[in-house]
Amino acid sequence: MEKKTIFSGMRPTGRLQLGNLLGALDNWIKLQDKYRCLFCVVDWHALTTAYEDPALLKENTYEMVIDWLAAGLDPEESIIFRQSDVKEHAELHLLLSMFTPLSWLERVPTYKDQLQQLKDKNLSTYGFLGYPLLMAADILLYRAEAVPVGEDQIPHIEITREIARRFNHLYQKPYFPEPETILNKVKVLPGIDGRKMSKSYGNTISMSDRPDEVRKKVRQMITDPGRVRKNDPGNPSVCTAFTFHGVFNAEEVASVEQVCRRGEIGCVECKKQLAERLVSYLEPIYERRQALQKEKNYIREILADGAKRASALAAENMAEIRELMNLGQL
Ligand code: TRP
Repeated sequence: MEKKTIFSGMRPTGRLQLGNLLGALDNWIKLQDKYRCLFCVVDWHALTTAYEDPALLKENTYEMVIDWLAAGLDPEESIIFRQSDVKEHAELHLLLSMFTPLSWLERVPTYKDQLQQLKDKNLSTYGFLGYPLLMAADILLYRAEAVPVGEDQIPHIEITREIARRFNHLYQKPYFPEPETILNKVKVLPGIDGRKMSKSYGNTISMSDRPDEVRKKVRQMITDPGRVRKNDPGNPSVCTAFTFHGVFNAEEVASVEQVCRRGEIGCVECKKQLAERLVSYLEPIYERRQALQKEKNYIREILADGAKRASALAAENMAEIRELMNLGQL
């Protein structure tokens, strides 16, 4: 039986954080042998908000692919490529734009939200409005049947399904499957200060942090502020380190909770244990990252090979799509 195709993408916005590893990458890695997977560095999508300053696009592409490989994506098994290397994404985006009502794009909830949130950028552009349509083109170009994404992307998959239906109806052939969402199980990780993990707060742990930086960040984690002496009873439910124990030390989390509540372990010791857990998880990734960092040519080859494989699939489907729209050979 032929494997189902899945497609997913990430914008190259810099080195990935722990949350990306747990939220998305871990999930991708698990899907690799069950599906034919395409994983795409969506640099055109990044450009919809970074058009004024694209200086870091290439650098960020390398860094992100290094993170992907270090985490365990396998370039033999999966097709790893850069969106802008496969021009059919642009062609399909254009063709889909012909029959996509403006109102569908205007009512995507993330559209107005982002316009509000990113006020410092001028996003009243054609490209930004069309972001979900470009995403639909990414997915439909490979006739992908499922898309692993986080919850925030659900409206984009929904509009992709609507566009697939509209195409199939207009050109009288059930050509595009309506892709399913494979929801990434997100374990929400706070930053080391307990707020949302975000680069702008400077509270992140990233996949590329050195083990000694990871240890230092764990030492800085905010614990129960009501706990003054180490044998005071603690309240794990307000402790950032405890949240991390829950994710990285699942086997021991119940006993960690108990000894904390009883005041039998101090925060320093508790964080030491957490740091070792976290380091043993991240260190192999860090080591692979270090090795890959020196192999820019290897990364370039992987992306070139991925682009070749993706292009072959894209060219075949695009020829059929053109034919359905009467744009094929005269
Ligand atoms: N919009 C997605 C995000 O920000 C990235 C993306 C672009 C994507 N094209 C895609 C995800 C196609 C899945 C499928 O996370």
